[in-house]
Amino acid sequence: MTNQLPLVLVTHTLPDGWLDSLHGRCRIVTGPKDATVLAPELKAHLSQVDGLYTLLTIRVDEDILDKAPNLRVVSNMAVGVDNIDLQACTRRGIPVGHTPGVLTEGTADLAITLLLAAARRLDEAVHDARHGLWKTWSPTGWLGADLFGATLGIVGMGKIGTAVTERATGFGLRIVYSDSCPNQSAESRFGASCLSLEDLLIESDFVSLHVPLTGKTRGLIGAKELRLMKPDAILVNTSRGPVVNTADLLLALREGWIAAAALDVTDPEPLSPEHPLYKQPNCLITPHIGSATRNTRRRMAERACENLLAGLAGERLPFCANPEVYSKE
Ligand code: DGY
Repeated sequence: MTNQLPLVLVTHTLPDGWLDSLHGRCRIVTGPKDATVLAPELKAHLSQVDGLYTLLTIRVDEDILDKAPNLRVVSNMAVGVDNIDLQACTRRGIPVGHTPGVLTEGTADLAITLLLAAARRLDEAVHDARHGLWKTWSPTGWLGADLFGATLGIVGMGKIGTAVTERATGFGLRIVYSDSCPNQSAESRFGASCLSLEDLLIESDFVSLHVPLTGKTRGLIGAKELRLMKPDAILVNTSRGPVVNTADLLLALREGWIAAAALDVTDPEPLSPEHPLYKQPNCLITPHIGSATRNTRRRMAERACENLLAGLAGERLPFCANPEVYSKE
C-alpha cells in the first residue's frame, strides 16, 4: 500500500516537525542539510519522482525536469523562484509553489535593521569597541546619518516594500517609490510618491530594494544608477544579490559615489570571505537572513507543504508562482 503513495524528494534535511503534514501522504527521500545542488542520492530517484520540495539554493532546470517525466509539482520553500526555470515548468504543465506573505514582516524587519545599522555605522562601531579603538567619547567619532526627515526610496512597492514603508514612516522618513505599476494604497496610506527609478535614486537618502530577480531586474542597480545616487546615500538590499552589479557597487563604495551599503544578499552567494566587499568598512553584509526567524521559517515550510500536497492531489496550488500553467487546462 505504502508503495502507492507519491514519491517526494525534499532537497534538504529540515528540522523535526516542519514537514509533519506530509507524513503518511507521500514517501519522502531527503537530501543533506546544506546541499547546494541536488544530491546524487536524490538524483537517482528522479525518474520516479512525483513532487519536488526545494530550497532556493537548488537550481531546477531543464536538465532536472528532463530526468523527471512524472513530476507533477515543484514546491519552493521561498517566495523568490529565480532558482527555478518557471517557463520550462509551465511548458511541462508543472505548477510551481512558493511562499509569499509569511515572510513579509520578518524580511521588512531585517531591511529596517540594516538601514538603521548602516545609517549609524553599527558594524564599524561594534568592531572598534570590541578591538580597543574606543579610547574616549569623541565628538566626531562614528558619525552617522539621521533617519528623521530623510527620504527613503523603495524600489518595488509590493508586500515587503509596503511593510518596510509602514515601519519607515514611524522613523519619520519620507517615502518615494518606483514600481512597474503605481501602488494607490501606499500612496494614500503613507503619502508615498511614485517616481521613475532615476528620480528616486537622485532624491533618496536611503534606497531599499524589494524586487524579485527576473530578466528585467538583473543588474537593475549598476554604475549608471549608483552614480545617480547622493554621495551620502545608503543602499540596502534584501531582495536578490544579482539585482545589484557587485563590481560596480564595490567601485561606488571605494570611490565614494555613495556612503554605504547594507546587503543581506550578494552575487555570488555566498561571497568568499576574501571578497573585497568584506574589506570595505562602509559595507555591512549579512548571510541572507531576511526570513530567518523561527516562526517565519516554520510557516514557510508549512506553506510549501500545502502547495506540495495540493499539487500531488491535482488541485490548484494555494500559492502558485506560474498560474499561467492553469490556463492550458
Ligand atoms: C525568499 O523566500 O525568497 C527569501 O529570499 C528567503 O527567505
